[in-house]
Amino acid sequence: MPHKRKRRLSGHVFIATSLDGYIARSNGSLDWLSTHAASADDHGYRNFIRGIDGIVMGRGTFETVLSFDAWPYEKPVVVMSRSLTHADVRADVIDKVTVTDLVPTAVMEMLSAKGWRRAYVDGGQVIQSFLRAGLIDDMVVTRIPVLLGSGLPLFGPLDRDLRLKHLGTTAFRSGLVQSKYEILNPFP
Ligand SMILES: NC(=O)c1ccc[n+]([C@@H]2O[C@H](COP(=O)([O-])OP(=O)(O)OC[C@H]3O[C@@H](n4cnc5c(N)ncnc54)[C@H](OP(=O)(O)O)[C@@H]3O)[C@@H](O)[C@H]2O)c1
Repeated sequence: MPHKRKRRLSGHVFIATSLDGYIARSNGSLDWLSTHAASADDHGYRNFIRGIDGIVMGRGTFETVLSFDAWPYEKPVVVMSRSLTHADVRADVIDKVTVTDLVPTAVMEMLSAKGWRRAYVDGGQVIQSFLRAGLIDDMVVTRIPVLLGSGLPLFGPLDRDLRLKHLGTTAFRSGLVQSKYEILNPFP
């Protein structure tokens, strides 16, 4: 009988990459993303965000979001960082954000105990560590038709292969190509 770990909170990725697999330039810039993704179509983002209880993101992504004109989330945000504390969070977002230095499994247990059922996991390094820990159920990856040549990668080293099931692909008029994958063997 295959071992199935009991976990009530599922992890979901919804992210855009360049065709060569980068989520940001090396300096964190998303200029290439706004140029190519500018379209009236939100490519399923609002529908996705409606279905989640909150967002777990890395400190790198949090710092980028802080540079936006306005805080873009209505749902709770948990920032994973070993260098920041809650006291470092800017006053205008302090009631919207929790900072934690827990490891991924413990973060998911904490959020599950709070009643979360579906978590949006965001940020390249954080997604990679959640994938390694078997905490991602599915991923929606939207490829932007641009080659950056270098940058911050979505994926990285794994201890073993993760097999995926392709659930579907949509080619948008904007040129973006969005594929959804389920992780078939999340647990070691
Ligand atoms: N294209 C897109 O759709 C998209 C989506 C999201 C983000 N981004 C971009 O991606 C960039 C950030 O991605 P990133 O890969 O550099 O960083 P990230 O995953 O957002 O953040 C990484 C940081 O999170 C902290 N952390 C705490 N626990 C961790 C753990 N278990 N595993 C990994 N990190 C942990 C560490 O910061 P401490 O040193 O503080 O511990 C680490 O340096 C930003 O430029 C953002 O704009 C793009």
